Amino acid sequence: MTTLRGLVADDLFKFNSIVLEEFVEGYGILFYLSKMTENPALCQAAVAPDGRLIGVLVGTHAVNKNEKIQSENGPDLHPTCGHISMLAVASDYRRLGLGTCLMGHFMEIVERYSDWYVDLFVRQSNVSAIQLYKSLGFVEYRFLPMYYIDENGFELRMPLSRDVERMSLKGFSTNVYYFAYQVILNLIKQCLEYLKDRLSWYD
Ligand SMILES: CC(C)(COP(=O)(O)OP(=O)(O)OC[C@H]1O[C@@H](n2cnc3c(N)ncnc32)[C@H](O)[C@@H]1OP(=O)(O)O)[C@@H](O)C(=O)NCCC(=O)NCCS
Repeated sequence: MTTLRGLVADDLFKFNSIVLEEFVEGYGILFYLSKMTENPALCQAAVAPDGRLIGVLVGTHAVNKNEKIQSENGPDLHPTCGHISMLAVASDYRRLGLGTCLMGHFMEIVERYSDWYVDLFVRQSNVSAIQLYKSLGFVEYRFLPMYYIDENGFELRMPLSRDVERMSLKGFSTNVYYFAYQVILNLIKQCLEYLKDRLSWYD
């Protein structure tokens, strides 16, 4: 039987076959270690009966200081949310419900924290992941042109039980500025890449 358990540092030496697959956003070892230390319960590993690591979810729980939501008791507050940094299932274990299971476990915990919503970023072309997230109730909160160096992305959000009025899905108006910021940032990145290429010709 497949089991879920907390991700441990040792797993980082075993999960290359999962995280080096297409569409998996990889990070440096310090990133994973900091997430595992901040919120151990939100970083999960799925393990096959033979002990092989077959799924990983790396998530966090944070206060979104860029947004405000009207609280149940009156004053506006910065909402707390769960954020998924990485979800990956080994290619030979896909379509068996493991992604859904890892997400379900994450949702259960952030519900217990009384978070307002869960969010994540996904590539526009990652149809299977978008399909999975939508089947769980996520919606396309905003479209992010050139969010990735080579591709557009989406921020997907799912309001949790605390957000009865789905207030976490409002706030779309700030996106215009975010789009402009992302476009300019990516243009600068591409110029720098181009310059780096040109300079390397003279090495
Ligand atoms: C996305 C991913 C995590 C899904 O994991 P999984 O264990 O196969 O997902 P599940 O078996 O729980 O699938 C649940 C639902 O998602 C959708 N889905 C999953 N894979 C799909 C695919 N290849 N094509 C279409 N829909 C798909 C289906 O609706 C599926 O339900 P169904 O099987 O009853 O039709 C996995 O494909 C993966 O690791 N991909 C590479 C990494 C990645 O894209 N991560 C997300 C980055 S944001």
